[in-house]
Amino acid sequence: MNIVVIEDLTKIYNTGMKKGGITALDGVSLTIEQPEIFGLLGPNGAGKTTLFKTLLGITQVTSGYATIAGLPPDNPRSRKKVGYLPENHRFPGHLTGLGLLEFTGRLFGMSRRDIDAKTEMLLPLVGMDKWASTKISKYSKGMQQRIGLAQALMGDPEILFLDEPTDGVDPVGKTEIREVLRKIRDEGKSVILNSHLLSEVESAADRVAILSHGKIIRVGSVAELTSRESQYEVEADFGDKLFDIPEEVGKKISLFKDRLIVQLTDEKKINWIIDQMRMKKINIRSVKPIKITLEQSFIETVSGKKVDSK
Ligand SMILES: Nc1ncnc2c1ncn2[C@@H]1O[C@H](COP(=O)(O)OP(=O)(O)OP(=O)(O)O)[C@@H](O)[C@H]1O
Ligand SMILES: [Mg+2]
Repeated sequence: MNIVVIEDLTKIYNTGMKKGGITALDGVSLTIEQPEIFGLLGPNGAGKTTLFKTLLGITQVTSGYATIAGLPPDNPRSRKKVGYLPENHRFPGHLTGLGLLEFTGRLFGMSRRDIDAKTEMLLPLVGMDKWASTKISKYSKGMQQRIGLAQALMGDPEILFLDEPTDGVDPVGKTEIREVLRKIRDEGKSVILNSHLLSEVESAADRVAILSHGKIIRVGSVAELTSRESQYEVEADFGDKLFDIPEEVGKKISLFKDRLIVQLTDEKKINWIIDQMRMKKINIRSVKPIKITLEQSFIETVSGKKVDSK
């Protein structure tokens, strides 16, 4: 099931500063499934926050169409099952962490009993039970993010919108947040997270979209975006037993210190390479497909240049 459907969405900010306005989103089409953790990646100014704001009805779309659980953003009921952690949020400093969650619960129209049960469950989940009675003005950046995540979970959302959720959170906290997100996904819900931290998205998301200058330029699973198709690395004792690779099999990219990198015309052609090596009695130590990191994929996609994987 698609919890979010986005079709040809365009957002132009009319600032009066620039003629024709600023095109923050330029014909974005995307679907978010339920359940999944979806990572929206893009450099600063790519349009990530704008996409969230248009989906949540905070800013109006210029053209195109979107739905959340079948309802358009201008219908307030579309937000009933949504949790949102904004970028650079400023929760009222005079409230305690618990106070913020209670306030959020009331905004959702929850009963006192439901609010108590929910806060009791959420505070330990985000590691904030010890700080529940401390004022938010005393919280560190990471603590503010944790309570922000709990606040986003108060209304028992079907979908969570998290804008840079681990900003300022320490490495242990990041791992904990990732675990919370997986748990939410395993309960059958969806999470969309914005980040320019590639490693974050790589380890947390099921699927990723790369947004650049308001356009989606790639969408796929992390595995799809990070496999360098049909490139293999073969470690073996080549010595002087080298052989030529015919064009229909592929081409040699490099051979250095008994490490051969080949680009094959088809995955199965690795068998031809292995057969040749057997025939020539070359001792094989390992054969593995070459993966790149999401960071390399991201830089390549955004810059259009290939990054050396070594
Ligand atoms: N309220 C606004 N008025 C005018 N222009 C805006 C407004 N909000 C965003 N923009 C412009 O729209 C573009 C996209 O901004 P957006 O904040 O969506 O990017 P982002 O991908 O979230 O960036 P970051 O990683 O820095 O958070 C930028 O050029 C930005 O300057
Ligand atoms: Mg942003």
